[in-house]
Amino acid sequence: MANIVVVGTQWGDEGKGRVIDLFAKKVDAVVRYQGGSNAGHTVVVDGEKFVFHLIPSGILHPGKKSIIANGVVIDPEQLLKELEELRERGIDTHNLYISTNAHVVMPYHKDLEVWEEEKRGKNKIGTTGKGIGPAYMDKAARRGIRMGDLLEKETLKEKLSLNLEIYHQLYGFDYSEDDLMQKLLEYGQKLKTYITDTSLLIHNLMREGKDILFEGAQGTLLDIDHGTYPYVTSSNSTAGGVCTGAGIGPRDISKVFGVAKAYTTRVGEGPFPTEIKGAVGNLLRKRGGEYGATTGRPRRCGWFDAVILRYAARINSLDELILTKLDILDQLDKVKICVAYNCRGKIIKDFPGNFELWKECKPVYEEIEGWKEDTSKVNSYSELPSAARNYIKRIEQIGGVPIRLFSVGPQREEIFATT
Ligand code: IMP
Repeated sequence: MANIVVVGTQWGDEGKGRVIDLFAKKVDAVVRYQGGSNAGHTVVVDGEKFVFHLIPSGILHPGKKSIIANGVVIDPEQLLKELEELRERGIDTHNLYISTNAHVVMPYHKDLEVWEEEKRGKNKIGTTGKGIGPAYMDKAARRGIRMGDLLEKETLKEKLSLNLEIYHQLYGFDYSEDDLMQKLLEYGQKLKTYITDTSLLIHNLMREGKDILFEGAQGTLLDIDHGTYPYVTSSNSTAGGVCTGAGIGPRDISKVFGVAKAYTTRVGEGPFPTEIKGAVGNLLRKRGGEYGATTGRPRRCGWFDAVILRYAARINSLDELILTKLDILDQLDKVKICVAYNCRGKIIKDFPGNFELWKECKPVYEEIEGWKEDTSKVNSYSELPSAARNYIKRIEQIGGVPIRLFSVGPQREEIFATT
């Protein structure tokens, strides 16, 4: 399989968890390279549901290395909770590796996020409340505390004092330095066997000819640079983030897979041109179980947007696409695909780089016949109703990316090749 990347092509929640779980079988290591506990990757194994926030879902595969690389921001409390839950369910966690350079999400990051969202009022971002933005803010300001610092008492004390002073001066926040120090040192002790130089580890694995899967969190339109800013997350969730987030060079990547849901969802605020309000939107939410895996918030639902897919293909160099949750559309009479936008009276096929312009774009739809048949029991592409195959083909043609797999249910075995 060589070194592959799996990214979301929409606003996250595309079903990456189950795709990563499928590919994990064929690789030696799975690497998370950005984001933090804002992610919620769901995998269902033999009817048992696992939701991962920080730990790569590759941990479910015995013997595979699970690596949390430098680009991730880690909430140690959440990480320890996740580790504990996995151990309780009989999953071996010895193969977890955590970058010494990954930044730590601190209690003041979460408090700042709540404070800022309140100040933004009606213009709030609608974050997951996990402190992700402020943690990356401190990283960029070069004062962040990193996982390796949890093992170095003097360095940790110096950094913590500086941060507490800054948070006090800027926001009037007060924390007990002694209590926080004690907590952080405890986290360090509990996690020390996992903390290592993951960039070197990945490099050595590559040198040994091992195959590696880089697991993206969130999606293309939540990327801090290429997404629908400011309604984005604070990291590079696109394929480009793999290099900086894991410490590898661009030539080390062999293939990039995109994951798209057969319709579109978005959680949090911000424009959403193909959003469906009313009965059809509610039907998709209900059938698709569209509630955030991290926050439980209802997801906004809409038609498939092929303009976004073309954009994702360009930004991520997508080689192939995996289309998930096709069965959710089973009951619809007609299915729509957004093929272009009408922007200030002009028809455009490329995603506009200017967010102000994009906010005003109206979708131009191609309407196709629904299949009105249960696809959840099919066992191959050829068993799909012809209208469903037509839907897949049209997305492929309009989006310009070959669709390699499609899924019709959450179970490991409910995903099939299109050939
Ligand atoms: P943050 O990442 O918590 O800062 O939230 C910023 C935006 O990204 C909000 O709109 C969140 O709802 C969205 N977001 C963050 N993580 C995910 C995810 O894993 N799936 C879907 N949306 C996400």
